[in-house]
Amino acid sequence: MAIVTFSSPEYRDKTVYAVAGSHTQTLLKLARENKIPINFECEDGECGTCAVKVTSVDKKIGRMGGPLTEKEKSVLHAAGKLSKAEAEQMIVDDLPSPWRLACQMIVRDEDILVEY
Ligand code: FES
Repeated sequence: MAIVTFSSPEYRDKTVYAVAGSHTQTLLKLARENKIPINFECEDGECGTCAVKVTSVDKKIGRMGGPLTEKEKSVLHAAGKLSKAEAEQMIVDDLPSPWRLACQMIVRDEDILVEY
């Protein structure tokens, strides 16, 4: 069970539980199920509208998250959220970037803070 806190300067923070492990539940799907107003358009990793900042707040483990696909990397790069250097460092460190596309990120068994 992962604890996901959604935080926005315009709304009250909302913390929800996510059943991780289905490998199909995206962050955007979880947000919509819980009426969190994250902006989105395509839901297919194309437009970059759903970019959110994700931070691990899990004390037990290091950052999990899934690897970014090439498509997610290029959309985040086009949106100015991920530089080429950061993308390369991400591969060296084997860590996901702080910015993710909510419609592409699969929720893992990790407590996270999502800023939108
Ligand atoms: Fe378009 Fe996520 S909604 S990239």
